[in-house]
Amino acid sequence: METGIRTKLLEAFSKANGEFLSGQKISDYLGCSRTAVWKHIEELRKEGYELEAVRRLGYRIIKKPDKISSNEIKLGLETEFMGRTIHFEPVVTSTQKIAHQLANDGTPEGTIVVTDEQTSGRGRMAREWHSPKETGIWMSIILHPNIPVSNTPQLTLLTAVAIVQAIEEETSLTPHIKWPNDILINGKKAVGILTELIAEADRVHSVIIGTGINVNQEKFPEHLEEIATSLKIESGKKSDRAKIIQTILLRFETLYLLYLKEGFKPIKLLWESYSISMNKPITARTLNGTLQGEAIGIDDNGVLLLKKADGEIEKIYSADIEL
Ligand code: BTN
Repeated sequence: METGIRTKLLEAFSKANGEFLSGQKISDYLGCSRTAVWKHIEELRKEGYELEAVRRLGYRIIKKPDKISSNEIKLGLETEFMGRTIHFEPVVTSTQKIAHQLANDGTPEGTIVVTDEQTSGRGRMAREWHSPKETGIWMSIILHPNIPVSNTPQLTLLTAVAIVQAIEEETSLTPHIKWPNDILINGKKAVGILTELIAEADRVHSVIIGTGINVNQEKFPEHLEEIATSLKIESGKKSDRAKIIQTILLRFETLYLLYLKEGFKPIKLLWESYSISMNKPITARTLNGTLQGEAIGIDDNGVLLLKKADGEIEKIYSADIEL
């Protein structure tokens, strides 16, 4: 089916919100014959959509395929600029890699790179990011903010807030943020964020924010079992990945515009309200040794502030945190 017509037909079903659309209405809307409508419906079925057909009432979508595509993300997307340019491929090595190429080619702010499967997903500290087929959200966001290089970690924290808000909105779960940017549900990691920069001297050209969200996995490989979880494992329900992406993009856009207008302060307050370690004793394992104390917040650069037993406040730039 031509993609233009398919998009239009899906748009009509999306507006109908689960109600029936008569064959006549569809044929008027698409400007084609009733027989052509029937063919288009059959094509949608082949793509994995479950459609109910009832005489005199018409057609309605009962189930969408468990796939993400540019169309699925665009339909119902309420943002102004976030996700308005979508680069989707079913399988990639890493969305970060593609995002770097697109950013260098001057793709617009808010472009997203999304895939159904990564063969070499990258995590922080050169770790591998397990990105199996059709279960998670493997997405990179490209921004061109006019901010100093030193402020870019703030965007990672902003992303964590947007994702927590989106998960709260789309599921029954209450996620928490573990500094610097892990999102935990019931103590296990469900989301990782990896921010990379294209910058020269003190000018940011692009910020590439990679987000890995475990959505519908039912289990993890043995080495991750103890530490990783998914929205499905924690809520018992499968989630619509395209819908979660739409909500993340909307939340992100709202927070990003607020950030560009009012600075980091409102974002910092939100981040701290979602943080799992605020005012709690923690152990920070840094490259230079282990520190213990109470996490009292973050500073404007996203640096963790740790109050030691002697009252001295230590700044933690990079560490693994244990609660
Ligand atoms: C972490 O180590 O916690 C960060 C994980 C980031 C994973 C995401 S998935 C989409 C994007 N592409 C990658 O290769 N990595 C990021």
